[in-house]
Amino acid sequence: MAKYVMALDQGTTSSRCILFNEKGLIESVAQKEFTQIFPTPGWVEHNPEEIWFTQLSVAREALQNVDATASDIAAIGITNQRETTVVWDRHTGAPVYNAIVWQCRRTSNICDELKAEGFDQIVKAKTGLIMDAYFSGTKVKWILDHVEGARERAEKGDLLFGTIDTWLIWNLTKGAVHVTDYSNASRTMLFNIHTLEWDKEILEKLNIPLCMLPEVKPSSCVYGMSDPSLLGGEIPIAGAAGDQQAALFGQTCFEPGTAKNTYGTGCFLLMNTGGQAIESRNGLLTTIAWGIGDKVEYALEGSVFMAGAAIQWLRDELRIIDHASHTETYAKAVPDTNGVYVVPAFTGLGAPYWDQYARGAILGLTRGVKKEHFIRATLESLAYQTFDVLKAMQEDSGIELKTLKVDGGACANNFLMQFQTDILGVPVQRPEVIETTALGAAYLAGLAVGYWKDLEDARNNWAISKTFKPKMAEEKQNELLEGWHRAVGHSLGWAN
Ligand code: G3P
Repeated sequence: MAKYVMALDQGTTSSRCILFNEKGLIESVAQKEFTQIFPTPGWVEHNPEEIWFTQLSVAREALQNVDATASDIAAIGITNQRETTVVWDRHTGAPVYNAIVWQCRRTSNICDELKAEGFDQIVKAKTGLIMDAYFSGTKVKWILDHVEGARERAEKGDLLFGTIDTWLIWNLTKGAVHVTDYSNASRTMLFNIHTLEWDKEILEKLNIPLCMLPEVKPSSCVYGMSDPSLLGGEIPIAGAAGDQQAALFGQTCFEPGTAKNTYGTGCFLLMNTGGQAIESRNGLLTTIAWGIGDKVEYALEGSVFMAGAAIQWLRDELRIIDHASHTETYAKAVPDTNGVYVVPAFTGLGAPYWDQYARGAILGLTRGVKKEHFIRATLESLAYQTFDVLKAMQEDSGIELKTLKVDGGACANNFLMQFQTDILGVPVQRPEVIETTALGAAYLAGLAVGYWKDLEDARNNWAISKTFKPKMAEEKQNELLEGWHRAVGHSLGWAN
């Protein structure tokens, strides 16, 4: 029997490969960061070729780390930064433009025009999404409108569109398979989450030809075999899900009402709502969690655009830390932020504010503010943003969360997790394996090929490493939150 399942985790800032064993434990990891392209303020791009090459090279490295060959791998599961849009030539495989990243704001004006016509209501009813530059639809339109000859080529059937899962599967199969899964399709703003079809009315409105869209399949099924020249043999590609939905699966949130929060580049709180697509009244998204067999499950999602990326900004742009993990020591070196709030609205604000024109703000500066306060305030902003989406989620679902399961890189930060539980007033559970995004993709793939028998196998593997319990007095909580909300108020609409 094969020893491992391979998860390819293509995130916003790095490509990773993890090999998991039957217990859901990590046996091998390889990771490579890749170039972030910021052509002009508010625009974000990636080079699709670099995404593919880094992903392939980490897959090879992960195999080498444990002297494994293709025959040791039961299946490949793919998980990815969602919404990021690639358009390429079906004959040559060459992208016609860089990938337009989910964070990119270049299509805000297209969204404004659609909103002015009231089309946002139609989009919300059909796709569960809020009209925002975040999603793929307006990004595809932008490419077809701005790259010379692109629309004619697309109409002739020469160009293909894909989110990153689609782009990777297409490359892994050397152009044989053009598919996506339900969870990724539900983030394009082109997919009707109720009828489970690409939506003709939205496609027409955005002038996007249907023939460039991938076939939509369940999240756990064999899409095709990897080309033998790539990883030394054929391996079934048997699972795919957007990274936040994969993390929900990896956290074994299989029952309606269970939720997780992932602290990655952004911060994404998702609650499983079972077979019911709940429409939000509080700025959350309704999205497809996954499709297994002929059943689709839904989730409510609070999407926060900047979380770990704000810590990266401290490291790479401000250069006031050398390593993300050092933030914990700095934050603990001071008793509070000395009145400082950092609102990391670098690419606008997502849930529950949905302001495309909000921009970052630092408030409450006085002469005594030190680097430590500043770092602490940036970390605290992750917890405040989570508070805002959790509150909206409880209002929408009518469910009081008893605990919050957390994962993603920044959940290793003990200061942040303690502050998070204090601000929420709800215990926070950190599992043993915090790579739940990759684990979820591995489970989806492993279940499709019988490596794992059923969901019970995954449930048995899940274990808590640490529970953080709230200690802060309610008065303090309220005082801090009041300051945060005032600070957010100052960042809204700034770039308009
Ligand atoms: O919707 C964007 C999200 O999928 C990005 O995830 O992990 O790269 O922050 P991550």
